[in-house]
Amino acid sequence: MPRITLTDLYKMKETGEKIAWLTSYDFPTAQFGQAAGLEMILVGDSLGMCVYGYNGTLPVTMEQCLVHSEAVRRGAPDVFVVGDMPFLSYQTTDAEAVYNAGMFLKRADVDAVKLEGGVRIVSRIKAITEAGINVIGHIGLTPQSSGQLGGHKAQGRTAEAAKLTLEDAVAVQEAGAKMLLVEAIPPEVTEVIHKTLTIPVLGIGGGLPCDGQLLIVSDLIGQFQAFTPKFVKKYANVAEVITKAISSYVKDVKAEKFPGADHVYKMLPGEADKFLKLVGQKPAAKPSGGKKK
Ligand code: KIV
Repeated sequence: MPRITLTDLYKMKETGEKIAWLTSYDFPTAQFGQAAGLEMILVGDSLGMCVYGYNGTLPVTMEQCLVHSEAVRRGAPDVFVVGDMPFLSYQTTDAEAVYNAGMFLKRADVDAVKLEGGVRIVSRIKAITEAGINVIGHIGLTPQSSGQLGGHKAQGRTAEAAKLTLEDAVAVQEAGAKMLLVEAIPPEVTEVIHKTLTIPVLGIGGGLPCDGQLLIVSDLIGQFQAFTPKFVKKYANVAEVITKAISSYVKDVKAEKFPGADHVYKMLPGEADKFLKLVGQKPAAKPSGGKKK
């Protein structure tokens, strides 16, 4: 199957077919995601919490994002993969933002990069776009600036705040972004943004009135334990499945039930006795083979 392109995603917006977008951080999960029919994968900086056990996304480095993006691209060659620009990879200067965005393309062959922020990062979006790289904007709750937002809180909940969120959305589109992600805002605000913009608008915690949905895979499969945002729907509980499997293994090891006869390699016929002779040990007595007649 050919790789999904921006043109395909724009067609889906036109026809009203919803876009399914999920994070992924590794090769096998990316393979599962492609097989399951995802159109888009985000190699999110949420990998800081979901993979590395950090408290938030701020410690995540470019190198970590690149290495995980490379693995995801290998697992999902046909999916539209988005590299998430980590904290301090684009906040400093336009030039640094372009260089780091370019590294995602050079190293991991991603189809777009995602940046957090609205009005205040317009020059970064313009610069990256002018370098020929697809940008996806991300507004509403932007975890990299959660310190300024008063924590991981829903945004745009008052009329004034909602108007600012809309202004961010318009600024991101005007700067040249090819798509917009809205996070943790009320559906009424998502709907106005969706009606106002011409680019596809996707939501994570933005409700239904947009062109598609994003979730974090570790939440969806029930792997991430620290907290569960309101917008998450858990489709599985792999934490329970994995813990049960490991605890069964621990029990089997202690009880010498593992490895069993099926899990060991057999010596070639006659070689075991020869080997024991060779090392000066007696062959084990053969089982009697049942009652003699
Ligand atoms: O890093 C990530 O997974 C994200 C989502 C929270 C939108 O940016």
